[in-house]
Amino acid sequence: MSEMCRVEDVHKSYGKTEVLRGVSFSMDAAERVGLMGPSGSGKSTLLNCLSGIDRPDSGQVSIAGLDLSHASTRDIAALRRTDVSTVFQFFHLLPTLTAYENIQLSLQLAGVKPAERGERVKELLEAVQLEHRAAALPETLSGGEQQRVAIARALAHRPKVILADEPTGNLDSHAGMNILNLLDELAARYRIAMLIVTHSEEVTRICGRVLHMRDGQLV
Ligand SMILES: Nc1ncnc2c1ncn2[C@@H]1O[C@H](COP(=O)(O)OP(=O)(O)O)[C@@H](O)[C@H]1O
Ligand SMILES: [Mg+2]
Repeated sequence: MSEMCRVEDVHKSYGKTEVLRGVSFSMDAAERVGLMGPSGSGKSTLLNCLSGIDRPDSGQVSIAGLDLSHASTRDIAALRRTDVSTVFQFFHLLPTLTAYENIQLSLQLAGVKPAERGERVKELLEAVQLEHRAAALPETLSGGEQQRVAIARALAHRPKVILADEPTGNLDSHAGMNILNLLDELAARYRIAMLIVTHSEEVTRICGRVLHMRDGQLV
């Protein structure tokens, strides 16, 4: 399968406000696509429709081989435990768990056997260069470090697609650049398709294609 996701004529309103007004695009396996546009233009809504967090009012969305228009809540939950991962602006780590435990929990939810988990967490911590912070609680980590734990967690179940919604939005420009470089390197290493919403022009360097959204439409 070379097509990783397809969005066709998606519309979505909140109350009387039409937030997505006929959005169509597709993305190939292992392709990296940037999504830029002013605040309020509908970028997060589009990502949420792709990840199954939200549902379009009309139009088709399929991702990693699943047609979300006909998928049950259970199918979508399974998809999010296997093929699709999300990374957000605020890292959403569990505050009472260490970096190591946050990543391990994700492996556990993905059904990875206990005997395998330790090795995998170690590999993921290495991949995001945080071996030395394994025992740290999120509140003792910098923003960039927290986002690296969140990325390790997002990689834990070996997804085919990562949907990243302003992953650098809460970081200074230096830390933000490091995160984009890391996503770039890991997506290439593990052949993961990635859709990144960002305001950083840097994204044009790591994405083969950049989409621009304005008032709920791709322009
Ligand atoms: N759950 C919601 N309920 C009502 N309005 C929403 C909701 N989510 C988003 N919106 C509105 O939809 C528009 C697009 O939001 P969003 O997709 O978050 O844009 P972006 O991510 O490009 O900043 C905004 O006007 C926002 O206020
Ligand atoms: Mg947004």
